[in-house]
Amino acid sequence: MTWPARPFFGVATAAYQIEGAVAEDGRGESIWDRFSHTPGAVAGGATGDVACDHYHRWREDLDLMAAHGVESYRFSIAWPRVQPTGRGAANDAGLRWYRELAEGLLERGIEPVATLYHWDLPQALQDDGGWGARDTTERFAEYAAIAAEALGDVVAAWITHNEPNVVAFLGHAEGVMAPGLRDWATALRVSHHLLLSHGRATQALRAVLPAGTPVGITLNLHPAYPATETDEDGAAATLADGHQNRWFLDPVFRGAYPADMIEHYARTLGPPDSIADGDLATIAQPIDFLGVNYYFPQRVAADPSHVPLGFERVEPRPPLTAMGWEQDADAFRGLLERLGRDYGDVPFWVTENGAAVEDTVVDGAVDDPLRIAYLRDHLDAVGAARAAGVDIRRYFVWSFLDNFEWAHGYRPRFGIVRVDYETQGRLPKASAAWYRDRIAEARTA
Ligand code: FCB
Repeated sequence: MTWPARPFFGVATAAYQIEGAVAEDGRGESIWDRFSHTPGAVAGGATGDVACDHYHRWREDLDLMAAHGVESYRFSIAWPRVQPTGRGAANDAGLRWYRELAEGLLERGIEPVATLYHWDLPQALQDDGGWGARDTTERFAEYAAIAAEALGDVVAAWITHNEPNVVAFLGHAEGVMAPGLRDWATALRVSHHLLLSHGRATQALRAVLPAGTPVGITLNLHPAYPATETDEDGAAATLADGHQNRWFLDPVFRGAYPADMIEHYARTLGPPDSIADGDLATIAQPIDFLGVNYYFPQRVAADPSHVPLGFERVEPRPPLTAMGWEQDADAFRGLLERLGRDYGDVPFWVTENGAAVEDTVVDGAVDDPLRIAYLRDHLDAVGAARAAGVDIRRYFVWSFLDNFEWAHGYRPRFGIVRVDYETQGRLPKASAAWYRDRIAEARTA
């Protein structure tokens, strides 16, 4: 199998999941600070207050990446470190930390890839309506411009949003992610504002960044399969694909929401009240790559009693990961090939892929064959999709470190490097050695 020239093989993390140091150097409160400190919101009452203490240990972490031959690092910038209340003057101390991080990566020959929004909205903006308020889209464009001005010479590529679907629907309809709201009409409005803010931020980034700097967005895509062969379940799979995938892909690539979903939401939630003239043209800014996060496919059945979705997710098929997520590398290959067919005018970057495993430490080592098998099968799927002509230019393992897995707290371990939360010790797992060897092999072939 031949792979693209370096940088191709990467690892990914996100600010709130690893940094800790939530009150240092002028950082403001984020919605995840507020949410994680809300009793009952996160398993075990866990918070990101300390997390992996990466804010202080980043040099050691970057050394570990370099020792494994990692070629690209996708991290996220915490908006409340840059603008503590989400508006107004930049906080230089926060920007300085990210500059040192990016410079540290460059010194080690690793490409810095920054995500602007991996879910940590400044709480002060939430108090003014958060992503439900159209003004937040302008605030986001302003933040993007500040970050690009300060870091545009050291960050190689930019991602506006991470998984707007999760932010909109798990954060505002199902209430399991910050800010923990349960209102479908708000969630739909939020999805539009997130997309609009992606378009506005893309414009703002391009106005500042050196010409040719790649800019993209990351979507979490889940192929949808009907639970049975009935027409009803077939229609449910089309709906699930519309809700999960096309609702975000179509505006970004085609400048239009999918007609079937506009009609479906209008019928179930009332006419959309937030889409203004010109918004879709703004959302459809040309991008340089699409970031794809892939973990598992969804299996769905018709469920007219669920308003507004009209479908329900049914039991996944084994084998499952420690998250209870179905493992299906063929579905991944199918997804990549479909993206190439239906939305194929840009390169694709796999910005997250990986597995939570019930790791154990035995004699000071973590042997994690299940994670290795997951990564191997999914990397093979990427190779197969490339061989079929899909243009895939990066692959990032989620995650470099075990970390704060949002509402699940610290129990699920996604890292190829184990973190001992008592001592903050780092222990590369067997999967880290496997990845190192896989990269080395690709580079000597
Ligand atoms: C994705 C998130 C990432 C991580 C993985 C497991 O949805 O983008 O932060 O939590 O899932």
